[in-house]
Amino acid sequence: MTEPLVVLKGVNKHFGDLHVLKDIDLTIGKGEVVVVIGPSGSGKSTLCRTINRLETFESGSIEIDGKPLPEEGKALAALRADVGMVFQSFNLFAHKTILENVTLGPIKARGVKKADAEKRAMELLERVGVAHQAQKYPAQLSGGQQQRVAIARSLAMDPKVMLFDEPTSALDPEMINEVLDVMTSLAKSGMTMVVVTHEMGFARRAANRVVFMADGQIVEEAAPETFFTNPTSDRAKDFLGKILTH
Ligand SMILES: Nc1ncnc2c1ncn2[C@@H]1O[C@H](COP(=O)(O)OP(=O)(O)O)[C@@H](O)[C@H]1O
Ligand SMILES: [Mg+2]
Repeated sequence: MTEPLVVLKGVNKHFGDLHVLKDIDLTIGKGEVVVVIGPSGSGKSTLCRTINRLETFESGSIEIDGKPLPEEGKALAALRADVGMVFQSFNLFAHKTILENVTLGPIKARGVKKADAEKRAMELLERVGVAHQAQKYPAQLSGGQQQRVAIARSLAMDPKVMLFDEPTSALDPEMINEVLDVMTSLAKSGMTMVVVTHEMGFARRAANRVVFMADGQIVEEAAPETFFTNPTSDRAKDFLGKILTH
């Protein structure tokens, strides 16, 4: 593996009595693309939110680029900028234009000059194929276009790692590929990515490793081909049987 970028050691998290992350050990190398799959409720979203410090955890450690996750204040704001996150719901600011959505973070959180932020935003919007929509409002765009804007918005902060939590689950089928294509080219460009998705084509095409979670644990991890053709755990076999046959 390349130099580690995100390192989780013995991470435990509860919601009340519910033990949602159980002794999670996971190391993600620079430039690595890890797809996380597993049944609903297995802790995939919580894992992402914990890496981004949107959730606290009780024990263990998480380091990003050699530094432990900060608790609060300026250091936490900086971490949030280092870790981009794209959710199932696009979460764009409805009353701001597409361009403003992408420039807001760099201007407010990073002190980038408006003209510089706009230039960079237009490059990113070009890259995700929605530059011609820059002056529109989110509601005027399709779901697939909005999700591509959400990706551009995250990239505008120059994150070290991008987390995607089921980024295509809320999309109509014909829009899924346009988002996956953007993610695939991002993966090829060397971005470090953690992607929660049930899109097996994307996993095969873009992932270096598949991590299978069940009941708050990492049950199995392997290269995509190995995992899909030869899962070793009963939980993974059962899960793949269900998702690959419908
Ligand atoms: N804010 C919360 N409060 C209480 N329980 C939660 C909360 N968020 C998630 N859970 C529970 O934690 C478990 C893992 O949830 P989640 O991480 O969303 O799983 P997944 O993304 O794999 O479907 C589930 O049982 C879920 O109901
Ligand atoms: Mg989830």
